[in-house]
Amino acid sequence: MRDVAVIGMGLTPFGELWDTSLRDLFAIACADCLEDAGVARDQVQSAYIGCMTSGLFVGQEHLASVLCDYAGLRGLAATRVESACASGGAAFRAAYLEVASGASDFVLAGGVEKMNDGADATYCLATAADQEYEAYNGVTFPGLYAMIAKAHMAKHGTTPQQLAAVAVKNHRNGAKNPKAQFPLEISEKTVLGAVRVAEPLGLFDCSPVTDGAACVLLAPVEFARKLGKPVVKIIGSGHATDAIALHDRKDPSTIPVVALAAQRAFKQSGLTIRDIDFAEVHDCFTIAEIVCTEELGIFEPGQGGPAAAAGKTARDGEFPVNTSGGLKSKGHPVGATGIAQICELYAQLTGNAGGRQLKNPRRGLAQNMGGSGGSCTVHILEVEQ
Ligand code: COA
Repeated sequence: MRDVAVIGMGLTPFGELWDTSLRDLFAIACADCLEDAGVARDQVQSAYIGCMTSGLFVGQEHLASVLCDYAGLRGLAATRVESACASGGAAFRAAYLEVASGASDFVLAGGVEKMNDGADATYCLATAADQEYEAYNGVTFPGLYAMIAKAHMAKHGTTPQQLAAVAVKNHRNGAKNPKAQFPLEISEKTVLGAVRVAEPLGLFDCSPVTDGAACVLLAPVEFARKLGKPVVKIIGSGHATDAIALHDRKDPSTIPVVALAAQRAFKQSGLTIRDIDFAEVHDCFTIAEIVCTEELGIFEPGQGGPAAAAGKTARDGEFPVNTSGGLKSKGHPVGATGIAQICELYAQLTGNAGGRQLKNPRRGLAQNMGGSGGSCTVHILEVEQ
């Protein structure tokens, strides 16, 4: 296996983008990414593009061909990758493995979703739950995460105030991100007083419905070293799946697929969570960030809530989580999210994160999750010193 680096990124604004089509979103992110990398279109050898359900959202399948053609990459070996909300992370891993294997030198990893085009987002998203046992019986994603939250509260005493602390912190970070869908600060009072979506989760405990696209370009590390830019290497890649129905798992207050994917990424890198400086964590709901920080080993089981409330995951805390604003404030165009997380790591590690820049981070981790924990990818990136 060769060492692989991220050499460029492109990210559209996230939000309700009524004037920008699915293919436009991808074409914009792709063009920005190639320009950032300084690589011509005819040098790119293949692409993996994460998208959860373009067929349901906008009626377009056969997606990789459509997107690449429209982005000026006709003829490219391109594949659409689907793993629900972890589609972007899975696309990134496929691109990484292709460069690492030596089969290709320049591979694009992209993600895109157009969720505001008229289709019922709650229905489309619920197709990522178990159809026979969950969705058919009326379960929605806010409903599934509300059950996880209730189980976590019953087992560990997690409080609504601790959930709110995650939302307040992520909106504070998102307010510094010009690409975020909701770049506004909110208070604990706003979160706790908001309209209920699925008890105990209110409007501000939920990631929004978002349009957006993201791309990164991968290349061998030897090539990256010639560019005169900071060299950001991929040093760990972990991927795991689990039963997608919540009731098929032993303890609904946990999401074991996260720990399994992390364990694989840590094994490859030879590191532990103590060697990581910051993380982008899949906060599709506030409770998800709390559980995932526990599964990743950042905090002990049951300590994710108290840690968030104590400011430990803030930008100036002991382990910053979701400096981008996370899915909560930046937005969650499901197929693009995993790549957007990598973009944040790349921006932070190259010193280009603007008003939310951390002080000299060396290693970042991105954790991208499908459904209520039926799949997960974990990637660790390091900037060469
Ligand atoms: N955070 C902050 N503000 C939000 C928001 C969010 N998540 N969602 C909506 N808003 C704002 C809107 O801008 C709007 O403000 P305005 O009235 O000033 O324009 C207001 O709140 C109402 O928004 P609206 O879009 O009408 O809300 P909705 O009721 O249609 O949808 C949710 C709200 C939470 C139900 C929806 O965003 C949702 O389903 N989220 C979860 C998505 C999901 O499950 N993703 C997959 C995860 S696995």
